[in-house]
Amino acid sequence: MIGAAPNGFLASITGIGAYLPERVLTNHELATMVDTSDEWIIERTGIRERRIAAPEQALSDLCRPAIGQALAQAGMEASDIDLLIVATVTPDMAFPSTGAILADEIGMPNAGAYDLSAGCTGFMYALAQAYGMMAAGLAERPLVVGGDVLSKIMDWTDRRTCVLFGDGAGAVVLERVDHGGFLGFELGADGSGGPELFLPAGGSRLPATAETVAEGKHFTQMNGREVFKFATRVLVSSAEHILTKCDRTIDEVDVYIPHQANVRIIDHALRKLEIPKDKVVVNVDRYGNTSSGSIPLALAEADAAGRLHEGDLVLMTGMGAGLTWGSALMQWSSK
Ligand code: ACO
Repeated sequence: MIGAAPNGFLASITGIGAYLPERVLTNHELATMVDTSDEWIIERTGIRERRIAAPEQALSDLCRPAIGQALAQAGMEASDIDLLIVATVTPDMAFPSTGAILADEIGMPNAGAYDLSAGCTGFMYALAQAYGMMAAGLAERPLVVGGDVLSKIMDWTDRRTCVLFGDGAGAVVLERVDHGGFLGFELGADGSGGPELFLPAGGSRLPATAETVAEGKHFTQMNGREVFKFATRVLVSSAEHILTKCDRTIDEVDVYIPHQANVRIIDHALRKLEIPKDKVVVNVDRYGNTSSGSIPLALAEADAAGRLHEGDLVLMTGMGAGLTWGSALMQWSSK
């Protein structure tokens, strides 16, 4: 699906927050755990280190500080929020939703709260949904969280996957503004690519048994080469589609925030789209692929570094399990 913002309806991000666990896991340390090396990981992915949640930390523990920061920046109380969407594939538990848990813990009695699952594209889907709810008059002050604790669903003996991912969460508050804001969204899904990146057991297809645990079916399985091909293709096509829909050109983009999966995937998109390197936000070298946390964490870093100016054209594109992809285009306006 693709759509440009309806005429006259202006909404933007007015608060951003981020949280990363303290524990740093370097490539060197990983090389003591599986048959890999710092050189291999850097050359193939650009990742140097990632953050890993403590054993007692669940997703909601990562989201809470990020939400607190986003509310503070927007100058809001938790009770002002009327919609909370948590994009994740690693909720605290299957149910209740992490959204409902957080709304209770933080004190959002007026919020509809739920989780959304769209793989690493979750944050883009959640942003589009929150915007759509606002435009339809159903929500006024939504809060969107993207976060994952992928370390909890990794096979730490599988070098093909465990070197790629990390933990983290980011949060944004959306509000109506009098200029700029979101210009449009594009979302897509190709379920035929589902088996390229999936977690086989623990759902209703293959409930947990002693066998599924013994066979490692509660860990992430990935066909890296196929996901790589998919990612390089959709990062480019999704960006082109949303720019065309919104009557903008790539030259007009000031800040480009792609999903942080792999530096080679990002470099490929930069070359194909002909976006200069100084416009892209990259943090995969320090955090690895944090799935739904990736784009809001990068957005928070760009904001903290003073890289988001009023009026800047900001392009965000995510992709991930599903297989899914999604873009948002916005004219930066923080009030
Ligand atoms: N250390 C050392 N060697 C390794 C490692 C490792 N960590 N992992 C794999 N290898 C080996 C393989 O076994 C293989 O050896 P072989 O030739 O003897 O069989 C060799 O390296 C090459 O393997 P490839 O899979 O061909 O390596 P490639 O260049 O494709 O890089 C990678 C692998 C990094 C996984 C790449 O395919 C990739 O980044 N894919 C996209 C993954 C991704 O981004 N997933 C998430 C996106 S969606 C989301 O965010 C959820």
